[in-house]
Amino acid sequence: MKTRWWILLFLVLAIAGFTLTRPSPTDSQLPMLASGEWRAMDNGQAQTPPMGWSSWNAFHLDIDQERLYRIADTLVSSGLRDAGYLYLNIDDGWWLKRRTADGRLLVNTGIFPGARLRSGENSFRPITDRLHGMGLKAGIYSDAGRNSCGAFWDRGHPNLPEGGVAEREVGTWDFTRQDLALFFDDWGFDYLKLDACGLTHFRPLHLLVRGLHGQFRAFPRLADDQVHDRYAQVGRLLAKPGRDVTYSVCIWGEANVNHWGSEVGNLWRTSSDITPDWQRMMANYESAVERELYAGPGRWNDPDMLAVGLGDFSTDHIEQARSHFSLWAMLSAPLILGNDLASMPDEILELVSNPDVIGLNQDPSGHQASRVFRSSQYDILVKTLTAPAGLNRKAMLVLNRQAEEVTVKVPLAYSQFTSAKRVKDVWTGITLASGQQHFELAVPAHGVRLLEIQGEHRLHEQRYLTEFPGQVHVVQSHSKTARILGAAEIGNMGIDGLEQALAIHPNSMLQWQVPAHARRLSGQFSAEQLDGDNRMVLGFYGDGRFLSRHSLSPKDTRPVVFSQDITSIGLLEITLESASGHEKTRGLLLNPIITYSHEP
Ligand code: GLA
Repeated sequence: MKTRWWILLFLVLAIAGFTLTRPSPTDSQLPMLASGEWRAMDNGQAQTPPMGWSSWNAFHLDIDQERLYRIADTLVSSGLRDAGYLYLNIDDGWWLKRRTADGRLLVNTGIFPGARLRSGENSFRPITDRLHGMGLKAGIYSDAGRNSCGAFWDRGHPNLPEGGVAEREVGTWDFTRQDLALFFDDWGFDYLKLDACGLTHFRPLHLLVRGLHGQFRAFPRLADDQVHDRYAQVGRLLAKPGRDVTYSVCIWGEANVNHWGSEVGNLWRTSSDITPDWQRMMANYESAVERELYAGPGRWNDPDMLAVGLGDFSTDHIEQARSHFSLWAMLSAPLILGNDLASMPDEILELVSNPDVIGLNQDPSGHQASRVFRSSQYDILVKTLTAPAGLNRKAMLVLNRQAEEVTVKVPLAYSQFTSAKRVKDVWTGITLASGQQHFELAVPAHGVRLLEIQGEHRLHEQRYLTEFPGQVHVVQSHSKTARILGAAEIGNMGIDGLEQALAIHPNSMLQWQVPAHARRLSGQFSAEQLDGDNRMVLGFYGDGRFLSRHSLSPKDTRPVVFSQDITSIGLLEITLESASGHEKTRGLLLNPIITYSHEP
């Protein structure tokens, strides 16, 4: 009897001890589970960044059929359609109301008379048919909540929905399936921009909402993961067979979208709205520039539509216009024009039609540029481009942030090339001397110099993983950004002989679509600061199967070397775990080198 009592006590203590010491599966660790399944957006859409025009920047709510058709005609007659600008996106302002009898959305036929059918029915179909007949694609705007942004910000505008509270609830919230069926199966649109004011702005205490005379129903506050779930739900419905819809998630860099956007949408806004001024454009550029590991074919950071041709980017400021356009091209950002094309000066047309700059943006490999150097004066970006076997091509951009000209000595080494065979100044078309190890570039005030370089790579039958961000997808549940570090940052870490580094926060996972002929991934694993009893573990999984792990503790004064065979692996998952969470320190992959079976 006595013995049994002791056994029981021992068992209870053992179980309690195990429960207390076992690392709890917090949700920050859940996405770590290597599944062997590519988790990034995979609906087949937007294999290169979407290109087109949207009504918002030019006309705000004052969009109408006449303007739309004029833009459509110009897209065709100016050659812009053939240059790749295919989407013609109707933004906020198109709706009349939601018919309460059956919940059907009605187009405002006062401004879109073509939507009034002879039968008396109301439909966008004749308009989308016409656009399709012109070789264009058509985009529609809605909201993830009950009301749109215009209803909040543009009160009293005549193009806002009319009627009672329910009739003005034109957002998709309670009508998701019905609205999507209407937009895509019935009306034939090809692109959805789903805004978020309906989720975020109509709070119970707001004047527009509260009291007996409130004009809108209050919308509950949603947690970030509920916002994610809402956008993901719409994304799943859009991916229904037979629907060919590009999905633009518009929640302005909020609700942690920068970390789930690439799993849910084809593009996701990384910032608040652009306005046609230099500072704002630069802020939007900043919101996307270090996010190269999140973009790739089918999924793009969206620093918002272009403001080329407007305000600080008009013909009076052509240098700034060129900078804005070049930056969006290098960021692999969607190129959605926002100026009134029908009255566009030739200089602007020529600028946005430049085939070489468009080519950088639309490069099929989909590698967003990395910022390899940054100072208060200027930035240097490098973008890997597709090249025929045996050739290496990169684009390199210098951005002058200053209001006066600057001369910059740009090392060729930033491209990973030891010698350049051909260097073209993309905007002038002029070929530059290719013999030197530096390019001395005079960069105008708020201007850029954009080079396309063909060169000899410093590695043979090897490349750095950091050169191919479009093949990588980051899985994480926290808001820290995984990224490729610039040369100056690496230098500041005092790590000798280091050429490349990729930083990830603990409790994240990188998924990498291993290219054919890749045989090995090797490099060093380190951390910025490890203290106390903190430990980090780097794990490799191939197509869902465990391959190897490497542990780093504060005692390790040197980086841990890894060399992982990846022959015949399709998806490599690299996990980084740390018991102390993701806030404290970053894990570093130093010189992550891919070895191929032959020169790539
Ligand atoms: C938000 C979006 C804009 C535009 C307006 C329409 O502000 O971010 O791009 O769609 O709503 O009201």
